Amino acid sequence: KRESGLPEIAALRRQVEALQWQVGHLQRAFLQYKKVELFPSGRDVGQKVFKSAGFLKTFFEARQVCAQAGGQLPSPRSAAENHALQLLLDVENKGAVFLSMTDFKTKGWFTYPGGKPLVYSNWAPGEPNNDGGNERCVEMYTNGKWNDKNCGVNRLVICEF
Ligand code: IPD
Ligand code: CA
Repeated sequence: KRESGLPEIAALRRQVEALQWQVGHLQRAFLQYKKVELFPSGRDVGQKVFKSAGFLKTFFEARQVCAQAGGQLPSPRSAAENHALQLLLDVENKGAVFLSMTDFKTKGWFTYPGGKPLVYSNWAPGEPNNDGGNERCVEMYTNGKWNDKNCGVNRLVICEF
């Protein structure tokens, strides 16, 4: 094995080799735990992970459950994110899910929790229709389409991390 004449360089070389081994070990361990964590009720898409809680709650309870876990309700911001969430809904087989967005501030104007306007939407035909005059939340159907819905009904809880 090639060694530099200077002992300091040789020591540094050994340290770098040790670090390279440790990083490789961490990468392999991380990928393994990612698979474990996503099986069977999680989906990752880009930097985002959607994970099902497996039970049904109202919008307000679901929002609390996700916040408690350090996450938030799902905000699909692209067709790819919407599709990943829909695949999870499909395997869970427990019906629709509440998304994070509401029109609490201005009726008919749906925003993310911080108040910013939507960058992506996938409304079902004719939605949002504020059916019955009290649909301030958004659910995703199992076909991936969105519907404004009464916040008080029970829906599958999925959180975004
Ligand atoms: C309603 C319908 C309607 C939709 C409403 C739903 P329901 O379901 O699907 O198209 O816009 O948000 O509440 O109450 O008639 O079973
Ligand atoms: Ca509706």
